Amino acid sequence: MNILIVGSGGREHAIAVSVAKSRHAGKIFCAPGNAGIGKVAECVPIGAMEFEKLAAFAKEHDVDFTIVGMDDPLVGGIVDVFENEGLAIFGPRKNAAVLEGSKAFSKDLMKKYGIPTAGYETFDDPAEALAFLETAKMPIVLKADGLALGKGVLICNTLKEARAGVKEIMEDKKFGSAGNHMVVEEFMSGREVSVLSFVDGKTIRIMSSAQDHKRAKDGDLGLNTGGMGTFSPSPFYTEEVDAFCREHIYQKTVDAMAAEGRAYKGVIFFGLMLTEDGPKVLEYNARFGDPEAQVVLPRMKNDILEVMQACVNGTLDEITLEFEENAAVCVVLASDGYPLSYDKGFEIFGEEKFDSAEGYYCFHAGTKRNEEGRIVTNGGRVLGVTAKGADLREARANAYAACEWVSFENKYMRHDIGKAIDEA
Ligand code: AMP
Ligand code: GLY
Repeated sequence: MNILIVGSGGREHAIAVSVAKSRHAGKIFCAPGNAGIGKVAECVPIGAMEFEKLAAFAKEHDVDFTIVGMDDPLVGGIVDVFENEGLAIFGPRKNAAVLEGSKAFSKDLMKKYGIPTAGYETFDDPAEALAFLETAKMPIVLKADGLALGKGVLICNTLKEARAGVKEIMEDKKFGSAGNHMVVEEFMSGREVSVLSFVDGKTIRIMSSAQDHKRAKDGDLGLNTGGMGTFSPSPFYTEEVDAFCREHIYQKTVDAMAAEGRAYKGVIFFGLMLTEDGPKVLEYNARFGDPEAQVVLPRMKNDILEVMQACVNGTLDEITLEFEENAAVCVVLASDGYPLSYDKGFEIFGEEKFDSAEGYYCFHAGTKRNEEGRIVTNGGRVLGVTAKGADLREARANAYAACEWVSFENKYMRHDIGKAIDEA
């Protein structure tokens, strides 16, 4: 099968590496891709939102199966465009990707079907939101309704901060039209776990758990980012937690979407918080997590194309997912200054060492080849260095050792990815 992967980050690189291992993979294309993806796939200079061009490319190049890694094209309806052209594609249709695309939609769905989540109110008028906040318990969480690169969530400790937050989201439109509607949510505390799953419209299969580190700095300080590192599995995702989520969250979500006439096919990412009152859903995403994919996919034993095809064909009930009995840690090497401003264009040295190191991966995110063919930094998150180990501690030691194989000017990383393991 010829494959087209849509996206250009570390997640898409991890998908491409898994696809390249599949016994069904023929030619692999990635649009637009990056320098690392270019080692396993042919990168095609078409943007992820150029649906018509992508579909035309797929037809011209006999692409049998397209995989969408990113949220924006899914929420924008790329799957509908491909299906209308008779092209097979992995991911939810627009009417189902709204599970990630609108926080108000997902909150209403959870309320209607009794799926555990934080209490909330939805507003489209800033004055009403402000009136509500006057008497609300602090801290409180404000969320722009639409996609905002994972940044449209404000945790406000005081009424003053909450007022400023309403202005930022709804009046100044800091997150664009995502702020036309706003969800105000009860603050929850607890440990966060990311659980990815494959879904075929009716059946759901759960992957091994992971934990992200969203803040920029050690000790979970600094600004929210797309994710600075991950580990898998999460030792906090116990059998009890798993049993609870299977009973109250996973299948219920899939059934709820089907009952709403929005049958969901693709990946559902459950962002969970393990609260004192049990696990609750923080958010849904309509795709693999980034950098969760960089620790979960290298541990998956199944042929990824067989699983993805089963999702599209509605035969996932015939598949059992299998994961290696080990652990993986991913440390993101970023450009110093991320997620605000940073310089780019610096040559990256040493990343080729990973090409021959078993159990080690250097997933490229913001990289490109310059005019001389050298690999240079081209974004905030530059590389995801993943290593496996017999257990989490070994994987963490391996990942941090491997971070030293690579160098570039303004290289920045957190030094405490997986520190939580020591508390388990
Ligand atoms: P989201 O994009 O909804 O996952 O939110 C981003 C991050 O904000 C989450 O990973 C949490 O760390 C935090 N967050 C979101 N909602 C809540 C909540 N209700 N209570 C506490 N923290 C939250
Ligand atoms: N790592 C969180 C996300 O992909 O949204």
